[in-house]
Amino acid sequence: MNHIDTFDFMSSEQSARIETVLQEERIFKPSQFVAKEATITGLDQYQQMIASAKADPDSFWGKAALAELHWFKPFDSVLDWSNPPFAKWFDGGTTNVTYNCLDRHILNGKGEKTAIIWEGEPGDVRRITYKQLFDEVCKTANALKDLGIKKGDLVALYMPMVPEAAISMLACARIGAPHSVVFGGFSSEALRDRLNDGQAKVVITADGGFRKDKIISLKDAVDSALANKSCPSVESVLVVKRTNENISFVPGRDYWWHELINSKSNKCEAEHMESEDRLFVLYTSGSTGKPKGVVHTTAGYNLWAHLTFKWIFDVQENEVYWCTADVGWITGHSYIVYGPLSNGSTTFMYEGVPRPSNPGAFWEIIQKHKINIFYTAPTAIRAFMKSGRGIPDQYDLSSLRLLGTVGEPINPEAWIWYREVIGQGNCPVVDTWWQTETGGVMISPIPNAVSTKPGSATLPLPGIEVDIVNAAGESVQTDQGGYLVIKRPWPGMMRTVHGNSKRFRETYWEYLKPKNGKFIYFAGDGARRDNDGYYWIMGRVDDVINVSGHRLGTMEIESALVSHASVAEAAVVGKPDELRGESIVAFVTLEADKQFSDNLLEILKSHVVKEIGAIARPEEIRFTNALPKTRSGKIMRRLLRSLAAGEDVKGDTSTLEDKNVLDELRS
Ligand code: PRX
Repeated sequence: MNHIDTFDFMSSEQSARIETVLQEERIFKPSQFVAKEATITGLDQYQQMIASAKADPDSFWGKAALAELHWFKPFDSVLDWSNPPFAKWFDGGTTNVTYNCLDRHILNGKGEKTAIIWEGEPGDVRRITYKQLFDEVCKTANALKDLGIKKGDLVALYMPMVPEAAISMLACARIGAPHSVVFGGFSSEALRDRLNDGQAKVVITADGGFRKDKIISLKDAVDSALANKSCPSVESVLVVKRTNENISFVPGRDYWWHELINSKSNKCEAEHMESEDRLFVLYTSGSTGKPKGVVHTTAGYNLWAHLTFKWIFDVQENEVYWCTADVGWITGHSYIVYGPLSNGSTTFMYEGVPRPSNPGAFWEIIQKHKINIFYTAPTAIRAFMKSGRGIPDQYDLSSLRLLGTVGEPINPEAWIWYREVIGQGNCPVVDTWWQTETGGVMISPIPNAVSTKPGSATLPLPGIEVDIVNAAGESVQTDQGGYLVIKRPWPGMMRTVHGNSKRFRETYWEYLKPKNGKFIYFAGDGARRDNDGYYWIMGRVDDVINVSGHRLGTMEIESALVSHASVAEAAVVGKPDELRGESIVAFVTLEADKQFSDNLLEILKSHVVKEIGAIARPEEIRFTNALPKTRSGKIMRRLLRSLAAGEDVKGDTSTLEDKNVLDELRS
């Protein structure tokens, strides 16, 4: 990764963004319109929290954990960092995430409050109270037990956005079985890899899901993943009836959800989980190798999802909150399921996405369900902007009071449009920076306390120590680009990579080596800090690309291409894309006996879709006779990134083995 070491990681698009944001001087003061009974009422309280977290982090987190979570047994210590980077939070304590998300609200008289409002893509609506959710979770937990699932066994979910996805996650947590949710847009091959890596015992899926006027055949994909005994750990498949598609059933392995679960008892005591017992594994892409299983554990994750949700969104008693993510991603875990339910809020779930046949779908939902807090991705905002304000202007969006964004850098123009057109100038915009690995938001404005600047995620949350450093781990000057790092452990941090603690240590904690020998967490992003201490995230500086807020490793796509018989070598880079943030460009060399053709180009694109999923489909494939390499044989991606972006190749090319390759690629 030469481009990192030379600090040469910014494309001209990113440098242009720095220029724009440097000129971005608009500031929006916190508005008292935000929440009537705010948790963090203003700047003074916020600064006090920051100061007390800094002065005595253990006391800060310890008090928060006691105040915000229910404990079957209180913890003995707050943080054990004696074996970095392997943290233990709240050691000695026992709790259960579902007790915090369900039982305690019912005991507090909120059993009849709506926990989930769900709308399917065809327009069907379900409302589920906390008591009903509790019953469904207990029944499902009992069914999983009957299928032989015990504490510690991994259960995989490959589901559409239906309430049963949240119910399944909670049912697993109830009995101490870690879940591993695989996004329903991944292919059967990608599913198979994740099932095998995690050694899943049960897969929960559906006969299909509705998405963009189409039906996704989830069960077929599960059948292909399991065919020929290729996932020997999987014993049973539980199938939710959603689309009424004709599906095949393997007797003794496959069960209908409604047949198995409806008859079960709604009594299932919450397992007393140690703080550090696994809650879930979620796969995410990195710059090397196959996707890694990010491990999150019980108490620390629960606390972080709970606190961040409360601090940032501060959902009031009668409000409805909507996060448009899919539960297959971390945003869905923390901010559709665990954060909102732990706080006893009403969380809205939508099965679909806006589609050409209904471009106003989101605004219609906001109007119909009187959504108060709306959380989505910049890529969606840019798409809405492109289709013009005429569409949202047809709807009553006056219920909105707070708008959030996540997943990729938001350009100031889209930020302002979001605030002015969707928020009608009244709603603060919170740009929240975080990752699968961080468990919850790390950098974000607190609406009642922090002024916002379009395009900046603003300031780290209380207790979070962020810095911008160079390759030696030293802080850089104000306004200089560098690596975004986190210098102190936090409760929601990932604990390890499933089955590969070495990879965890090397990827995140040993990439940058400060001279003082301290462990600092490298997030993989580049950023800069301005005069006011505000953070401006510039995007990934490793070989990870972000397409429409979806994170993909270039190496995964390269492996998919090379697995095709015609391909000899492949190099994949991201290219700046106005709507999607980045798009995928692949440079491919063919086996000697194969010919370049338009037909082959389409075949290779489809091959990537088959291997990974539609989100990884290359926008462009460029055939070439050779790839630019250093003398030691490393592909010079920096050059390819410039070529893909249509830029002049700048910087040092002296290490290039064969200069002719560059000329050929240019032409
Ligand atoms: O590059 C950053 C970008 O998304 C990456 C994390 O991706 P993932 O683990 O899939 O989680 C996405 C949802 C939390 C980060 O390394 N990213 C996320 N939020 C922002 C962002 N980039 C800029 N601004 C953000 N607000």
